[in-house]
Amino acid sequence: MSGTERSAGVTVQVRTRDGSYEVIVERGVLRELPRLVNERVRAERFAVISDDNVAPTHGRAVMEAGVDAGCDMALFTFPAGEASKSRKSWSVLTDELLDAGFGRDSCVIAVGGGVTTDLAGFVAATFLRGVPVVQVPTSYLAMIDASVGGKTGVDVRAGKNLVGAFHPPRLVVADPEVLVTLSLAERAQGLVEAFKHGAILDSAYFASLEDRVVDLLAAEPSASAPAVARSVELKAAVVSEDEFEGGYRQILNFGHTLGHALEAASDYELGHGSAVALGMLLEARLGERLGVTEPGTFARLRGPLEALLGPIDGASVDPEAAATYLRTDKKVRGGQPRVVLLRRLGEVDPGEGWSHEVPQEALVEALAAGLEGS
Ligand SMILES: NC(=O)c1ccc[n+]([C@@H]2O[C@H](COP(=O)([O-])OP(=O)(O)OC[C@H]3O[C@@H](n4cnc5c(N)ncnc54)[C@H](O)[C@@H]3O)[C@@H](O)[C@H]2O)c1
Ligand SMILES: [Zn+2]
Repeated sequence: MSGTERSAGVTVQVRTRDGSYEVIVERGVLRELPRLVNERVRAERFAVISDDNVAPTHGRAVMEAGVDAGCDMALFTFPAGEASKSRKSWSVLTDELLDAGFGRDSCVIAVGGGVTTDLAGFVAATFLRGVPVVQVPTSYLAMIDASVGGKTGVDVRAGKNLVGAFHPPRLVVADPEVLVTLSLAERAQGLVEAFKHGAILDSAYFASLEDRVVDLLAAEPSASAPAVARSVELKAAVVSEDEFEGGYRQILNFGHTLGHALEAASDYELGHGSAVALGMLLEARLGERLGVTEPGTFARLRGPLEALLGPIDGASVDPEAAATYLRTDKKVRGGQPRVVLLRRLGEVDPGEGWSHEVPQEALVEALAAGLEGS
């Protein structure tokens, strides 16, 4: 099949308090975007929001397809990078939309990675008290994680993602073909969350990712399309069960309690994917030591994660700095940090409300021990 033909894709339904939305994962589907959007959103004007890496390629393609189909569309851009996920970018974009005369009959189309889907989603959540958003994720991370589940927001001085809103999209359209322009490093970082989905929910999926690491890193659509579809199915099932993170949704935080601490301690030098990979390994080993996680799980995770990222030793992060972060993390203040522990590969231990309260000393010890002696 040539790259321009359409292949049968997968459509996943995500339930929300107010209804549901679809996530369409399909090669070449971006060319259908105007029709898909028009079928689901009643809007007169469309604001396409992209960062300045993605705007000239995929942002423009979305714009051109829309204009060709007779839609009233304008493109708004901001500088690429996590630093743009800020109140400042939010205020610039909302002012630009107002200056351009966008009203309540408008719809935001976010085209980009997770920074764009979070930022543009938050613009949509707040613009004139809320307009619809269509998410068009272009990175692995945005396709399998950030664009599904309705969380939007910005980073603030006190921490990442601390100001935001739940604003479920009207539609998510993921075209795995766009991943070919994503850098190899970004592909590897994003794919860590796919392995996480397998680790917490589906050991057969984990094994299938392991088998195709090379093709996934190459963004070969015969590998990326089914992986994105399966990860979306798994994440959609979780967020449909627990839209507002009351309990079950926490399982998605596997690897993240220690991962976030490592990421922050490295001053964000360590990519999120690398930090979460190390966090998954340390949390798996912690689970084994606590007698919660089946012995051998740590070793089972390590091989494929190293195939994806190269050797993982954690030596680059100062465990003391990570421990300090654990003690001051805004999200755990007033209580002990909670950790999601596996029972075995593909299954989370229910613990108490899907996580375990682990004394900070044990976590600090887990960090300090690193991966030595494993
Ligand atoms: N809302 C949620 O539930 C949720 C979940 C996970 C992560 N996130 C957020 O997602 C963000 C990280 O997402 P990310 O890793 O996609 O970062 P990103 O949006 O910064 O994208 C990474 C880089 O890749 C570029 N890029 C994206 N798609 C491309 C493509 N197809 N071709 C070429 N370049 C492309 C971007 O311009 C950027 O330079 C973080 O801010 C994180 O907090 C949100
Ligand atoms: Zn993550």
